[in-house]
Amino acid sequence: MSYGRFSEDGREFIITTPLTPRPWANYLTNGRYCCLISQTGGGYSFFQSSGYHRLTRAHPSLALIEDRPGRYIYVRDEETGKIWSLNWQPVQAPYEWWECRHGLGYTVIRSRTEGIEGEIVYFVPLHDHLEVWKVTLRNPGEAPRHLSLFAFVEWALGSYGFDLLETAFANLFKRVEYHDGVISAGMKYWNLGHGPAKPHLEWDRLAFMAAGFPVVSFDTLKESFLGRYGYYAAPAGVKAGHLSNSLADGQDVVGAMHTRVRLDPGQSYSFTVLVGTVGSREEIPSLREKYGEAGFADRALEEVKRFWDDYLDKFWVDTPDKEFDLSVNIWNRYQCWVTFNWSRMASYYIGGGSIVGFRDSSQDLLGVLPINPYWAKRKVLYMWRHQFRDGGTLHNWDPISDIGPRTGHSDDALWPVLATFWYLRETGDLDFLKEKVPFYDGGEGTVLDHMRLSLSYTLSRRSERGLALMGEADWNDALDQVGIEGRGESVMTSEFLAWMLKDMASLMRTLGEEEAADRYRREYEELVEKINRYCWQGNWYIRATTDGGRILGGEERIYINSQTWAVLSETARGERALACLEAVRKYLDTPYGPCLFLPSFREVEDDVGIITMFAPGVKENGTIFNHTVTWCVIAECLLGRGTRAYELWKKTSFLTRGKNPDLYKAEPYVYAEYVHGADSPFFGQGEFTWMTGTAAWMLRACLDYILGVRPELEGLRIDPVIPAAWSGFRVKRHFRGAVYEIEVKNPAGVERGVKEIRVDGQPIEGQVIAPHGDGRVHHVEVIMGRVSASEVPAEVSSSRAAR
Ligand code: GLC
Repeated sequence: MSYGRFSEDGREFIITTPLTPRPWANYLTNGRYCCLISQTGGGYSFFQSSGYHRLTRAHPSLALIEDRPGRYIYVRDEETGKIWSLNWQPVQAPYEWWECRHGLGYTVIRSRTEGIEGEIVYFVPLHDHLEVWKVTLRNPGEAPRHLSLFAFVEWALGSYGFDLLETAFANLFKRVEYHDGVISAGMKYWNLGHGPAKPHLEWDRLAFMAAGFPVVSFDTLKESFLGRYGYYAAPAGVKAGHLSNSLADGQDVVGAMHTRVRLDPGQSYSFTVLVGTVGSREEIPSLREKYGEAGFADRALEEVKRFWDDYLDKFWVDTPDKEFDLSVNIWNRYQCWVTFNWSRMASYYIGGGSIVGFRDSSQDLLGVLPINPYWAKRKVLYMWRHQFRDGGTLHNWDPISDIGPRTGHSDDALWPVLATFWYLRETGDLDFLKEKVPFYDGGEGTVLDHMRLSLSYTLSRRSERGLALMGEADWNDALDQVGIEGRGESVMTSEFLAWMLKDMASLMRTLGEEEAADRYRREYEELVEKINRYCWQGNWYIRATTDGGRILGGEERIYINSQTWAVLSETARGERALACLEAVRKYLDTPYGPCLFLPSFREVEDDVGIITMFAPGVKENGTIFNHTVTWCVIAECLLGRGTRAYELWKKTSFLTRGKNPDLYKAEPYVYAEYVHGADSPFFGQGEFTWMTGTAAWMLRACLDYILGVRPELEGLRIDPVIPAAWSGFRVKRHFRGAVYEIEVKNPAGVERGVKEIRVDGQPIEGQVIAPHGDGRVHHVEVIMGRVSASEVPAEVSSSRAAR
């Protein structure tokens, strides 16, 4: 069945029934205030931290099933006593017409129920810590209608975990006020969970709801609004047509305000509701006044739309596959904004305890880097601030307390090294390396010091045979017992380390530090030699060895990451590189993409870890884990196999998977973290949407590797690796202060190979366009074709050399 479609211009996903197979969400966020919102207004809002500045409530155990409560406008017909909601939820009254549009930075729900048309536009303005609900009702009928309207939210207030686990106790600290159309709610005890500086802290925020209509009655006591044994679908207050002006100090609190309107035939009535947070009550009147001013909310929404125009303008692709364009130009890129801002903090699937993942955020920033290098730069610095003087790092933290665990994950320290390289390639800003950044445990060092420390730290944590130790786990968090005693090895981290050493060697060469360059290069070559000596299993690389010396990924099971990262790091060259990717294709592929490994674990294996405890075919246990597919796309591109790279993109795309929504279930406009594997009864179903490293990496796989428009220190490399059937494509990209309009033609139907590049009509040597930095638009014509052996790009020629 169809649940929706994209709008003509691709910028909205139009959901045509509220009964989607799962809540289909949007994130309305300015980077500080965040509103996770489903197609019926479900979800919750928070400020800066989903764990500690939670404003509204959602009940996690039922989130995916009933998706309540939410941000609702209830309506009561004063004559018939019938009640419904403009959202459809939570009343679920039969509607005459209903539609939700998730757009970039806004969500609109429109409906017609009981002969009344309703519209709610939800958005978060760029500069204020609040969400605006612009509500309009219209009476298209012939007779006047008398309606009661109720705006409703349920407050969580402060610490989400405390509110969830100790609800009745947490309620004791809640304070609420009603004054002239504004409900404000505070929390006297802020349970931060991990030992605040003072034993008793008061939550330093207030949540508020301001009604842009004359308030007839209100409720803040949940019990009084819903009624004893009442429920969201039929709250006592709504049924009665008036609320009881309850004040709920020390109780479970909601925000509910009521007004009455008479709508004559053809007449409409509009108002706004503001829900947000302030540091003190005094801030509320001015916010109210501002948004109460005629046209202000509309202008704030226009500003949000302009932000998105600008965000989308930084690059643009036009290929023979319009879905590829829709993904790269709009939705994959939109998702990158969300992961960039909210890391792994909150979704319909993630508990919402408030986590900035160190490795996650270091990768997420790659997605916005071509759009705004400055944002990415600040994030890289933020990452480095969480490194210790010895080179180790926090694994994750809560953004407001800045407190988090230091674990022994073997890959963590390498991610900001990778992010820094990508930042340098985007900007050419080598001075960045000299910027001073504090260490988490005091003192400071330059960015370059931090990078070197990451490498020396990881180099110093190696086994007797010189492979990287697994430690507490690597990229795959669920391999958490493999190396816990300090002996197990990670092949993926070894390859990651090799890759970073190689890139560090060339950076050192660029900086003229020949000796360091030679040293890193030597380390790289030695490591690569060891990985090849100990980990090549004949047809593929093993994945790890356990503390007890057991091999993971030998004959019994093949893992994708140690194959793809062998190619990324040039650990595998020539036939061996091809063999790696052939093994992935042969043993791991499914109709929905290649699996993380196969077969899934069915029995608990104590020396492997939690991964063996997941049900077969879920989470990391043998699923199509989309994050890893992105590296497979890149690896295929590095070997010049464009048809295959594209095919991998295509079959894992949300646009493809979303065409079978009853199986796939997840939102058809953003990536899910994984798709159930063949060993799961839900094979093909998408899970854990939105917050996944897939977003950033897939965007870069498409733009930098398939289309091959890729920043390097020297300039913009043009090295497309496309399906042979593509006759060409166009890319517009901002790069270091100039704009490049690139037109690629593929008359000979090759997958890779550039015969000629002309910039503003002049042929250039090689495939790298030197940056112009002149603020101008430059036209680039690229002719692809078969090239002779001496002209083939580095990765392929080194592959050949190794044969
Ligand atoms: C999740 C985590 C990420 C981890 C991956 C594999 O996506 O956010 O950090 O690398 O799972 O375990």
